[in-house]
Amino acid sequence: MTLSAASSGKLIVVCSQKGGIVKSQSTKEVAFDLRMMGFSVLEIDLDWTTGLTERTFPDELPLAIEREPLSHAFTPGEANAYQLFFPDTTITPIILPDGRHFIGATSELNEINYRNSDCMFDFRDRINELKTRYDFILADSAPSYSNVMIASHMSADYLIIPTLLEKQSRNAVGKQLTYMQKIKKNYNPALQFLGVYITQATVTNYNKPLKEGYLGQVETHNLLMLIEILESKGYSEEFILACISYMPSAAKEAIELGLTFHEYDPKCRPAVQYAEMTRKIVQLTGAQ
Ligand SMILES: Nc1ncnc2c1ncn2[C@@H]1O[C@H](COP(=O)(O)OP(=O)(O)OP(=O)(O)O)[C@@H](O)[C@H]1O
Ligand SMILES: [Mg+2]
Repeated sequence: MTLSAASSGKLIVVCSQKGGIVKSQSTKEVAFDLRMMGFSVLEIDLDWTTGLTERTFPDELPLAIEREPLSHAFTPGEANAYQLFFPDTTITPIILPDGRHFIGATSELNEINYRNSDCMFDFRDRINELKTRYDFILADSAPSYSNVMIASHMSADYLIIPTLLEKQSRNAVGKQLTYMQKIKKNYNPALQFLGVYITQATVTNYNKPLKEGYLGQVETHNLLMLIEILESKGYSEEFILACISYMPSAAKEAIELGLTFHEYDPKCRPAVQYAEMTRKIVQLTGAQ
């Protein structure tokens, strides 16, 4: 399934103002599931800590990301996100075995944050070119208010926010929404918030409603505070897209092997939950 040739693909940016909230793994899960549904998908690592890139290539970084890894000089390849911030570079994404396309990052992406802000407009032009070639572009964006993050929001159609439920992560959702609304107002009125998803939910009872015992007592309390934060920014609890179950051993093994939950075990809860959330994303973005 692909969108009609005339329509433009959608950039979904995955971002929160806190690290370690399962941004990279969930970007990979959603991108993989979209691909499984038949969409053409490009994944971009826009986080200079490069978790998504390392997880996609656990053994060795492809030369398409770094042309001369042993050189002292930085030699970005044609599939390095750094290239997106310049007007006339050659960009050729890597094609992964399942058909996803991939643009990776190296730590030098952070240098973009010290460049003249023109580079954010160059980025937007380059992304607009890429949108004509894909149904979906998924970007794992950096957790700080920086050129790279602003560029990702200036070019995006949608924002999704992964989060844990503890205080710092919840507050990071609020911060992210403030930044999103600011960038929407000043640079990108078309930008829409798709929702948040809880990434390591300790589910107590799968048969209970979300706010009434689905999670343990403390987590339910934290969830209600997350809903307050959403409401303070103008979004209802409908914007909670999914609760992904906490499954540490499956997560560790899958990551160690460089796999998505789906590839690791298609029947495990996170695999099923991510697939369900991806179907929701497809509906919400009107791609189906
Ligand atoms: N469903 C899950 N259950 C338990 N642990 C999980 C689950 N999904 C991911 N994890 C764990 O969460 C950790 C963080 O995930 P990830 O690296 O994707 O987060 P991140 O937000 O991208 O972090 P960073 O800010 O470092 O880039 C991983 O090490 C992984 O083991
Ligand atoms: Mg990461």
